[in-house]
Amino acid sequence: MKTLLSESQLRGGVDEMAQAITRRYGGNPLTIVAVMTGSLVLLADLIRQLNMPVRVSLIQASSYRGHTEPGQLWIRDDMMLDVTGRDVLVVDDIFDTGKTLQRVVECVGEMDPNSVSSAVLLHKEGRQQVALTPDFVAFRIPDEFVVGYGLDYQDLYRNLPYLAVLEPSEIEAETV
Ligand code: IMP
Ligand code: MG
Repeated sequence: MKTLLSESQLRGGVDEMAQAITRRYGGNPLTIVAVMTGSLVLLADLIRQLNMPVRVSLIQASSYRGHTEPGQLWIRDDMMLDVTGRDVLVVDDIFDTGKTLQRVVECVGEMDPNSVSSAVLLHKEGRQQVALTPDFVAFRIPDEFVVGYGLDYQDLYRNLPYLAVLEPSEIEAETV
């Protein structure tokens, strides 16, 4: 597997994104809504670089890719905190077509927050199908399938400390 972003590159990008978030919110309390499961590693690293009062809330989103129509989404919000009147930052691993983030931002917007913005580790170039753009992006990457640092292929590879490109041949050969 080819390494796309090393551990130290990831650390640098996440630190810069934390600084941008801090410039935006200052010392005001922030409620982070992390989209499970892909944003798990980013969440852990990001919140430790933020100094304002931070609440962490979880939401789960999965697309039924390959099973039904693409873009059809399933959202589970029973682990959400009450975000009424809060400034919310939705955090996800990757902005690909953008449908997941758009759906989650919409869903959180219906919960009466004071504001909703969004942050992603990765923005895959040339794939977007929605009008929304994330407010904070750590890295822009080419249109390749990546794993590691929370991102999976069939629920594997999330534990890789770096980000790697999974080649189409490796995807086909995968039998685990
Ligand atoms: P979107 O709704 O098309 O933006 O897709 C976002 C979701 O698709 C992410 O939260 C990931 O779970 C998954 N995804 C998209 N591209 C990749 C990739 O390159 N590697 C792993 N997961 C991906
Ligand atoms: Mg995901």
